[in-house]
Amino acid sequence: MVFCGNSTEESELHHAQIHLYKHVYNFVSSMALKSAMELGIADVIHSHGKPMTISELSSALKLHPSKVSVLQRFLRLLTHNGFFAKTILPSKNGVEGGEEIAYALTPPSKLLIRNKSICLAPIVKGALHSSSLDMWHSSKKWFSEDKELTLYESATGESFWDFLNKTTESDTLGMFQDAMAADSKVFKLALEECKHVFEGLGSLVDVGGGTGVVTRLISETFPHLKCTVFDQPQVVANLTGNENLNFVGGDMFKSIPSADAVLLKWVLHDWNDELSVKILKNCKEAISGKGKEGKVIIIDIAIDEVGDDREMTELKLDYDLVMLTMFNGKEREKKEWEKLIYEAGFSNYKIIPICGFKSLIEVYP
Ligand SMILES: C[S@@+](CC[C@H](N)C(=O)[O-])C[C@H]1O[C@@H](n2cnc3c(N)ncnc32)[C@H](O)[C@@H]1O
Repeated sequence: MVFCGNSTEESELHHAQIHLYKHVYNFVSSMALKSAMELGIADVIHSHGKPMTISELSSALKLHPSKVSVLQRFLRLLTHNGFFAKTILPSKNGVEGGEEIAYALTPPSKLLIRNKSICLAPIVKGALHSSSLDMWHSSKKWFSEDKELTLYESATGESFWDFLNKTTESDTLGMFQDAMAADSKVFKLALEECKHVFEGLGSLVDVGGGTGVVTRLISETFPHLKCTVFDQPQVVANLTGNENLNFVGGDMFKSIPSADAVLLKWVLHDWNDELSVKILKNCKEAISGKGKEGKVIIIDIAIDEVGDDREMTELKLDYDLVMLTMFNGKEREKKEWEKLIYEAGFSNYKIIPICGFKSLIEVYP
């Protein structure tokens, strides 16, 4: 296209250029957030108890003096992106009427404070770890290859599950489980609004339940419920439960321990439709002893491009590509969930939004 001074065309070009550059440099915002998390900026402001100036922050973070202005520029972007808020304080350096800028936490940066019951720093660490990012440089090659390989496999020569399970990389397995556990703690807030889903159950098996964060929360709310966390043997090997909570190692593609209900939180989005139907069929078998009273409780994303706002849809579509490239999994629209559920032999389901961007789907035999 040739641009020769027509104002509509020029304006279109300028907007197109801004749009493209913005998307090219989106990674800078992500990486600046990772830097803030690694430095522990939110922890330092939280411990200080009030907004902090750049010099207070630099000294508390023990930065090299040459990095004071660098920190200021990182904070300018992070503040623009909603992670910090600027307040004006009277200057301490004795200049009458002088003012200084101080940085306060905002709701998103409060989620980075460590040792709080809800801290999403492990999500930032895991999602922006080189093991999650490097593969993207191989996507062109991947598009010309066998469709069964994930981008991760194509780039590294092994599946992400194999990578996690290698004993020499056990810190990566820990990092992955920490990220899952951090996300699961948000469920505590949601449990109040979906308590009715678990009421009346005698037993529950949390399939792919990881280190059992969600099951423990459910068990605290329903102390008489017999809970089982079922995951791969290496995940549950060193975990201990209590009288009403036990850990069982196994393979959900073979069989699942029997219970009144099965919970699948953030499990089915790791798998394609064929394997998800297999898991759901095994879940149906596991609850068969309870007859029509049994149920499967799925917590996962449901894409809704019409009902959701732009930011929410972008997040869900981003997640879809993460699942696709790492696991050959997918985030699903409501009609895709429906198809899976009926294909696995269930007769009905109910879906409600939960935890901000996820949905809880009750599935009945
Ligand atoms: C995305 S994580 C979700 C963990 C947990 N439900 C949560 O929300 O925090 C998926 C879990 O599935 C487990 N998993 C993968 N393959 C499995 C299998 N064949 N049998 C049982 N669990 C499996 C993984 O070990 C992992 O803990």
